[in-house]
Amino acid sequence: MKCEKPLFTVFVLCLITISFASGSNAENNRKLWSHMCASCHDSKTAPDMESLRAKYRTADEFTVAVESRGHRCMNILKNDESLIKKIAKEIGLK
Ligand code: HEC
Repeated sequence: MKCEKPLFTVFVLCLITISFASGSNAENNRKLWSHMCASCHDSKTAPDMESLRAKYRTADEFTVAVESRGHRCMNILKNDESLIKKIAKEIGLK
């Protein structure tokens, strides 16, 4: 059964490639976040995506936070709840 090993290796490599490919798709799917939020939310000016995700469990909590705790420079976003909810989904909140 020696000859099965290379085949198995190829199979595993395929799986790894696929998981990397879908990982980068997840990045591409965060268009709103990267266009509208990421420039300030880079962990220097404002908390980055990971820390917001750790802080807010649900899209609703996140929305309330944007509306109440968000900085003055985010004012244009605050009236658009559906946009905030979309972004919450993008960064993986439910
Ligand atoms: C012009 C810069 C800027 C943009 C653009 C921006 N933010 Fe902010 N945001 C800030 C600053 C500054 C704070 C205040 C950070 C602090 O208090 O430490 C903040 C705070 C927040 C908070 C509260 C953070 C906390 O610590 O509880 C949330 C949530 C948030 N922003 C979400 C967003 C989302 C979502 C977007 C994109 C739709 C966005 N922000 C776009 C600058 C920005």
